[in-house]
Amino acid sequence: MKNLPKAFVRLFILMTLLALIIWLRAICQMEWSSKDIFHLLIFGLLAAASESLPVSLPRGGFVTVGFAVFLSVAILFPLGVSSSVALIGGMLVFGKEVRGEPFFKRVFNASQFVVSLGVAGVVLKTTGTGFSVEPQAIIIYLLAALAYMLTNMTVVAIALGGLQTKSPWHIWLGNIRWSIPNFVALAPLGLLMALIYNNYGSVGLFLLFIPLLISRHSFQLYMDMRENYLNTVQALVQALEAKDTYTSGHSSRVEQLAVMMAESIEMSEDKIELLKYAAVLHDVGKIGVSEIILNKEGKLLDSEWESIRSHPIIGQKIIKSIKFMFDIGNVVRHHHERYDGKGYPDGIKGEEIPLDSRIIAVADTYDAITSDRSYRKGNTYDEAIKELKRVAGAQLDPAMVEVFCKVVTKETSREMLSAERIQIA
Ligand SMILES: [Fe+2]
Repeated sequence: MKNLPKAFVRLFILMTLLALIIWLRAICQMEWSSKDIFHLLIFGLLAAASESLPVSLPRGGFVTVGFAVFLSVAILFPLGVSSSVALIGGMLVFGKEVRGEPFFKRVFNASQFVVSLGVAGVVLKTTGTGFSVEPQAIIIYLLAALAYMLTNMTVVAIALGGLQTKSPWHIWLGNIRWSIPNFVALAPLGLLMALIYNNYGSVGLFLLFIPLLISRHSFQLYMDMRENYLNTVQALVQALEAKDTYTSGHSSRVEQLAVMMAESIEMSEDKIELLKYAAVLHDVGKIGVSEIILNKEGKLLDSEWESIRSHPIIGQKIIKSIKFMFDIGNVVRHHHERYDGKGYPDGIKGEEIPLDSRIIAVADTYDAITSDRSYRKGNTYDEAIKELKRVAGAQLDPAMVEVFCKVVTKETSREMLSAERIQIA
């Protein structure tokens, strides 16, 4: 834990202490019967099983179906039982996803489960334990679910923000909100689990656990689909980079630079995601241009220039065939338009050029100036910035050049290069 950011360590200590106080107070306040121990074992087993089957989120972290189990114990039993189940669910986790994970992660998860249940418990105080089908009680159960969800998401966003030294809001937008459909789907299941256990005992509960596993499977499929999209993009880029020696690493550098610019102008996470795909794929149309022309060192003939100038249109055609990337095609088509209207393929100018294309054009130009080619060494950072400023207003959008100069300093550009070297090694 020594190397962890201080902000996270502070939150970790706070959550652990808070969870310990809530748990100790709850187990001391109730009179334990053998039935309570039996409930604890049954639900503890379910919680540990649920937490051992997590689904990964796009940018780190994961969600599980444990929420339904926790919600049902919170409704059915006193906080002493429910917080003990949460401790078991957080600490006794098995499976390949958690192998090798540091111990503090388990302690933190267990703590945030207990604290979230503690908050839900305050809402549930008015209903007492056991399951009631009264509409008023159902509303309170749903409010308790909401309280649990909000506490859980806030704590996780602050924790991931502390770990990744980013703002919690940024983490929430980019990552945590993907878990909302999971919470919404699981809250009614949690209520159903409580109802079935109340009426049919442990056998009914285990039968209900099967649809829970199916719900987890559907969510996993949804996340896998997103992963597959990304893999498709990477395969396309690899195909291109195998062909054109100059573009090796170019796409990913343009992507990094474009994202830095987009974050600086506070573009929404959804739009940044699309910009990322567009930046990675901006030159994909070069697949349709002859290798001899792409790698030619001397002067190009008019017909050869014509062929190179067709790559944005070919790129758009390729991307059009991938359903979810439909919007990106237009961005790729216009990445060689000039701000003064003298670019290609359509000669549109100024704000007529999509913002994403204008961002990519700046990043693309910078990388082209600073990259080594077989016949010349790449220019320095200072030379590149001077050139960007010179062509601002004619070739490039001056506002975007300004943004670029603000976010891409000598230091960040050096960091990018060294990170790339490490990757290659
Ligand atoms: Fe291009």
